[in-house]
Amino acid sequence: MPGSKTDRAPVITLDGPGGSGKGTVSLILARRLGWHFLDSGALYRAVALAARRRGMKLDDEEALGRLALALPVQFKYSEINGSPSILLEKDDVTLVLRGEACGADASQVAALPAVREGLLERQRAFRTAPGLVADGRDMGTVVFPDADLKIFLTATPEERARRRYKQLKDKGMDVSLVSLLEEIESRDARDSNREVAPLKPAEDAITVDTTGMAIDRVVETIMALWAEASPGR
Ligand code: DC
Repeated sequence: MPGSKTDRAPVITLDGPGGSGKGTVSLILARRLGWHFLDSGALYRAVALAARRRGMKLDDEEALGRLALALPVQFKYSEINGSPSILLEKDDVTLVLRGEACGADASQVAALPAVREGLLERQRAFRTAPGLVADGRDMGTVVFPDADLKIFLTATPEERARRRYKQLKDKGMDVSLVSLLEEIESRDARDSNREVAPLKPAEDAITVDTTGMAIDRVVETIMALWAEASPGR
């Protein structure tokens, strides 16, 4: 049947707050399944960074919407582990995009409807055979409402702050645990309370609380859910 689930590449969506493990888990899942991977947060971060570099105001919705639509961003996937490098106007911005300043700016521009609209089709274009693992906040609610499996990953704010701390320290960045926790809590509030595409589980999403769970166990849990959701695939 045209337009039905069966004639489209399958999608698994992983939504949830920052530090819930989505990024790492999505990448491992994509590798295990041999599927494509969409890091939608990186797109919002890239809009924010491009806007800063162009000296734009982060509340100029019309201009930011136009920027999102024509964003000169490219993902390059490593042959070795599938991990993406992100190029903005041919400049490798992978590291700077992960910084806390860029995350805070991204959360601000992500609240603007024109920015979300401007990134919509670009995100949907990632859905190609053999399948897609999509990581974000509104993957299951807005971008891929007909996804084959929707996961909502959570963890306590304290656990998420500890994970982010370790991640950033490992990358050689200088951060404080207390300020990370504050940042996580204020970003959660902003992402959950915004009017467009707020962070919330889709009605048909399965919530997995990853507090105290090792990454491998989270991956196995989701692989088992996928096996259940797609018998015979
Ligand atoms: O997942 P992340 O930390 O890279 O996301 C950066 C910001 O972008 C985050 O504050 C929320 C926003 N975001 C969003 O609104 N919708 C998405 N699908 C992904 C990210």
